[in-house]
Amino acid sequence: MYFADLQRFITHLEDADDLIRIKASVDPYLEAAAIIDQVCKGAAEKRALLLENVKGSKIPLAANVFGTQKRVAMALGVDNVEQLAKSLRDDLKSCSEMCSGQALAKISKNSNSESICSDVASCFAIDMSAEGLDALPALHSWPGDGGRYLTLGQVFTRHPDGGRQNCGMYRVQVLDKHTALIRCHPGSGGGSHIAAWHARGEAMPVSIVLGGPPILTWCAGVSLPEDVSEIEYANYLSRQAIAVTECQTSDLCVPSTAEIVIEGHVLPGEMQQEGPFGNHTGSYIPSSPAPVVRIKSMYTREDAVYPCTLVGPPPMENMFLAQAVERLSLPLLQHDHPWIVDIHMPLEGIYHRAALVSVDAAKLPVAEISTALWQTRMIRNSRLIILLDKDSDLHNIPNVYWRLINADSWTNSVLIDDNKMVVDARRASQGLAVRPDQSTLNKVMKRWHEFDLKREELS
Ligand SMILES: Cc1cc2nc3c(=O)[nH]c(=O)nc-3n(C[C@H](O)[C@H](O)[C@H](O)COP(=O)(O)O)c2cc1C
Repeated sequence: MYFADLQRFITHLEDADDLIRIKASVDPYLEAAAIIDQVCKGAAEKRALLLENVKGSKIPLAANVFGTQKRVAMALGVDNVEQLAKSLRDDLKSCSEMCSGQALAKISKNSNSESICSDVASCFAIDMSAEGLDALPALHSWPGDGGRYLTLGQVFTRHPDGGRQNCGMYRVQVLDKHTALIRCHPGSGGGSHIAAWHARGEAMPVSIVLGGPPILTWCAGVSLPEDVSEIEYANYLSRQAIAVTECQTSDLCVPSTAEIVIEGHVLPGEMQQEGPFGNHTGSYIPSSPAPVVRIKSMYTREDAVYPCTLVGPPPMENMFLAQAVERLSLPLLQHDHPWIVDIHMPLEGIYHRAALVSVDAAKLPVAEISTALWQTRMIRNSRLIILLDKDSDLHNIPNVYWRLINADSWTNSVLIDDNKMVVDARRASQGLAVRPDQSTLNKVMKRWHEFDLKREELS
């Protein structure tokens, strides 16, 4: 099922008893985050939340809407993300001569779901430019945070030379009603656009979108090849054309069904201190200069809802967003490196910190494998890669630990390069694996009923 906007997704969750409305008044300063944190840690069966009465704002706040594996799959329009991974894998087969980036660009274009800019847009129903960011129930989440943040904003920018627009999920710190800071990593799509406009000495138009099709919100957190925009990717995955509309103050196109659209400009070279920001590592990212956004307009739809995610120590909502990124990145990785069997980025590593990779490449030297992996978008930021045999169950962490601790001498199995580490825990280097004889095992299984043992007793 495709959800054209956040509100339809929220209604669907509520109908499925997977969302709780909180009518009591809640303070956006620390209190709302404390509630959301408890729910992410397991309270109320991790349901999505709609805080209807956040002090200081008339706009309800939606949190944890992507807070389970099932809800992320639902947002992507499927029961299980593996369904999408399978069709992506199948589609990539028709482009075997291309690298994954070109292949994804081709199949995204062939999906017959091209967004066309229309003038009809519910997201521009109410002009809230005068109140600006003060109207939003943006959270101050942790005691040491530098201020209030928009955490689920889809930041739309375009290169000054034109071309595809980028939509990245970057945190936005609220300074006052018409001023914010954007924190995007230098290598990100938004970061490279800011640098390009800066080099020209020109102000960069930017639109920060909250809400819209949940599948696009998810896509904003995916690092896509240059030739594929997040809207194209969302259209391809959903087989729908997301309705888009031109912004009020620039030629950027945003989803017409967005809840809130904030438009402004990043002036060349204008920076202010951003942070500290309580992060998923469990520490605060120290404050440092970030580009300033001068806000020109803010529009909302009727009865808008403000979506946010709490970033902090796991388990948190972003782990489930990350899990789907992992599953849908695997076919692309395998397209370029067929020796990759599976990948698992443990949830506590949030997106990029650690990657377990099983490989069908017993003879390939660890240095060659790690160089190839570190060039991929998915793994380039992993500080830890653990290589395992092709038959390893990466999702069984005790099993991974067992392999890891039994790796060859650390001297031969560990490679440290530029503050990143690879541990080669492939058994191949240790000779024959200890396993039951397969034909004996087959015979045992045929005779199993004779032994009066329950199957579950096997571990
Ligand atoms: C909840 C959430 C918050 C994020 N915050 C940031 C951030 O503040 N800065 C950043 O550069 N990336 C952040 N990311 C990661 C980016 O969204 C991700 O790298 C994405 O690929 C960026 O898009 P781009 O490749 O078009 O730049 C965040 C991701 C999520 C899911």
